[in-house]
Amino acid sequence: MITAPDIHAISTFVTEQKQAGRTIAFVPTMGALHAGHLDLIRVARTEADIVIVSVFVNPTQFGPNEDFSAYPRTLDDDLRQCEQAGAAAVFCPEKEELYSATSYIGFELSGLGDHLCGAARPGHFNGVIQIVNKLFNIVKPDVAVFGQKDIQQFRILEVMAHEFNHDIRIIMGRTVRAADGLALSSRNRYLTREERIIAPALFSTLQETSHALQQLPAATNVAAQIQNLLEGAAARLNSAGFRTDYVQCVRYNDLQPPHTFEAREIYVLAGAAFLGKARLIDNLLFTLLQP
Ligand code: PAJ
Repeated sequence: MITAPDIHAISTFVTEQKQAGRTIAFVPTMGALHAGHLDLIRVARTEADIVIVSVFVNPTQFGPNEDFSAYPRTLDDDLRQCEQAGAAAVFCPEKEELYSATSYIGFELSGLGDHLCGAARPGHFNGVIQIVNKLFNIVKPDVAVFGQKDIQQFRILEVMAHEFNHDIRIIMGRTVRAADGLALSSRNRYLTREERIIAPALFSTLQETSHALQQLPAATNVAAQIQNLLEGAAARLNSAGFRTDYVQCVRYNDLQPPHTFEAREIYVLAGAAFLGKARLIDNLLFTLLQP
């Protein structure tokens, strides 16, 4: 495996691989790798000849009061894990390599950023689009794999790839969880032992709520029932010890809240909640049980 600390090194590697006729699958990360990231690498290996991973804690997707400086940085361990997982190269630049002092261009997300983390973290997805666009242009992959864990990010990047004509297949990796259901996250290391015991309640609450949502009738205005179920879920999380940021239900396609449920439409039930210092997110995709 090669370690590429700058654009020149990764570009040279990409050119060589393309000249040799190999296809490239790409897994962008911010490092602090865990079994969820490794599962994306595993999926990526099935989709192309070689896998390139990027490790870069992207400053532009963190808000001023967020954990950019505290975000875990474990590059040596990340490189070891990438090698063991069968990656061919890791692109791990410093921020000066990717950003000049000023950026003049931003991205307008319109409806896709109105809800979920888009509402809770202003500017976050602008930073995600900015960095993934750069990475796509540098790595020039055939396929890129992102996790369902960050479902709004996934949908936005799927749309970005389409609208910006990146000729890249965007593939969704499943959410890898601990045995008790907690979605793996680099931020789980912020949890104290007591908080770690409470943390799986985010997933179990979303599961119970999605089961209830799935039973609602199709093609009828169910906005009030949805609202009740979502508020009930947030109240349950708060009484378990979380400080709930949101529990929301949106259509997968346009990330807007539905007033009616329709057969064959895919819905997202997503939650974000603080537990001590950690902000945990999770989500489930569902369709109506009896359309
Ligand atoms: P990061 O949080 O490091 O996540 C990198 C990738 O791993 C994302 O596609 C994310 O959805 C996926 N992932 C995280 N936890 C997972 C889990 N438990 N199971 C499966 N996949 C999981 O997401 C980012 O970095 C950044 O926003 C990035 C896209 C790299 C742009 O900076």
